[in-house]
Amino acid sequence: MQKIAIASDHGGFELKEKLLDYYRNKKIQMLDLGTYSSESCDYPDEAQKMCDAIRNGEADCGILICGTGIGISIAANRCAHIRAALLYNDDVARLAREHNNANIAVFGGRTMTFDEVCRRMDIFLNTPFEGGRHQRRIDKIETLK
Ligand code: RB5
Repeated sequence: MQKIAIASDHGGFELKEKLLDYYRNKKIQMLDLGTYSSESCDYPDEAQKMCDAIRNGEADCGILICGTGIGISIAANRCAHIRAALLYNDDVARLAREHNNANIAVFGGRTMTFDEVCRRMDIFLNTPFEGGRHQRRIDKIETLK
């Protein structure tokens, strides 16, 4: 059974809470890393908590949310071994796993609907990495300075 970590800033707080309810009702183990209210906070802090949790093996994959998904993607992708993908449509949700072996799905709390996010997460969780030539490219990402 997969364990999913989830974190957001204030722009993603409402969507984060809905997703927590949704997955807990499905008996999926969730790790809620915050933020814990709609008070303004800084998305790099939330991204850092998520990246630490993924790298420490506290969860199998993560969900990050800010207003657009852009700021928190930029922040998370600064952290080594993290591949955070902004899932802006269903095909991208599949390709982020098949080609990029993404370990964090990112969403925009102010730009995407709950139904879209649930559908894309379903694709993300059920699509394996293809490996092969894609592994070579991921290995190259690890060498970037
Ligand atoms: C916060 O107002 C907003 O800037 C943030 O949630 C995000 O959209 C940044 O990219």
